[in-house]
Amino acid sequence: MVVSNPRHFLSLSDWSREEVEGMLARAAELKALRGRGVRTESLAGRSILLYFEHPSLRTHVSFEIGIAELGATSVVLPPEQVRIGEREAVEDVARVLSCWCHALVARTHSHRLVEDLARSARVPVVNALTDRAHPCQALADALTMREAGGLREGRLVWVGVGNNMTHSLIALAGALGLRLTVSTPEACRPDPELMQAGTERARREGGEILYEPDPRLAVRDAAFIYTDVWVSMGEEGRVQDRHRVLAPYQVNADLVDRAPPDVKILHCGPAHRGEEVSADVIDGKRSLFYEQAENRLHAQKAILESVIGVS
Ligand code: NVA
Repeated sequence: MVVSNPRHFLSLSDWSREEVEGMLARAAELKALRGRGVRTESLAGRSILLYFEHPSLRTHVSFEIGIAELGATSVVLPPEQVRIGEREAVEDVARVLSCWCHALVARTHSHRLVEDLARSARVPVVNALTDRAHPCQALADALTMREAGGLREGRLVWVGVGNNMTHSLIALAGALGLRLTVSTPEACRPDPELMQAGTERARREGGEILYEPDPRLAVRDAAFIYTDVWVSMGEEGRVQDRHRVLAPYQVNADLVDRAPPDVKILHCGPAHRGEEVSADVIDGKRSLFYEQAENRLHAQKAILESVIGVS
């Protein structure tokens, strides 16, 4: 299975506004079709590899189900079986897998590894989370925020640690020209280069990305407040003292009360109640936690159709 110039989905910053809008529209269409019990089978006869170096609930299950619903076959390759870069060179692994598979979906700890796979693969590579980005989640979140109303005009406020999820929401805001405020402690700011590139692109697209270290000020005009775990997968044991500096960034009733009354709460999961978010907020009526999870399925089906191409 060799494709000339495969189109990878590693970051939303590589995709034009029209392409991202197209994927969102298709995700919404696939969701509606599924709701009516219509099967699309647009990828019938294709085989898609799934590779996860970190635990996964939403990504793994929603990709497997989405692949089946598109009529394709999934193969899960456990990392200990292949030991990329140790048992076999990354280039060889990517090229061999490209002989059989029509796309590779990879969750790798290091973003460099997913880039290396993409460089050598002859089929599209989809980033299923790295230490730098989580674009599948961000696309699904765009669908969730659109459904909730106010994606275009409403401000999205990130509260917590600057991490892979922040980077992908910055890239989303850049691609769609959204209004985004990032509120983190100084010591936990997102990558400055990604922040700058996203800010410039968002401005060109009619949006705005700001940094406001005080979460109480940041949420004042929020349509959406988004938070994530304070310690990401792979960071365990490497970061210390975060909980003390992050205590004022917990998304709890006190913080949410400073936002407009119709604010919605987002969290990519897994949620740690009592840490980055209080139980009453994540389980409350403003929370879109389960809508976000549901939309992973539809967004990822649209991503797979876009990168593989529908015949
Ligand atoms: N920032 C989190 C996201 C999990 C979906 C992590 O990388 O662990």
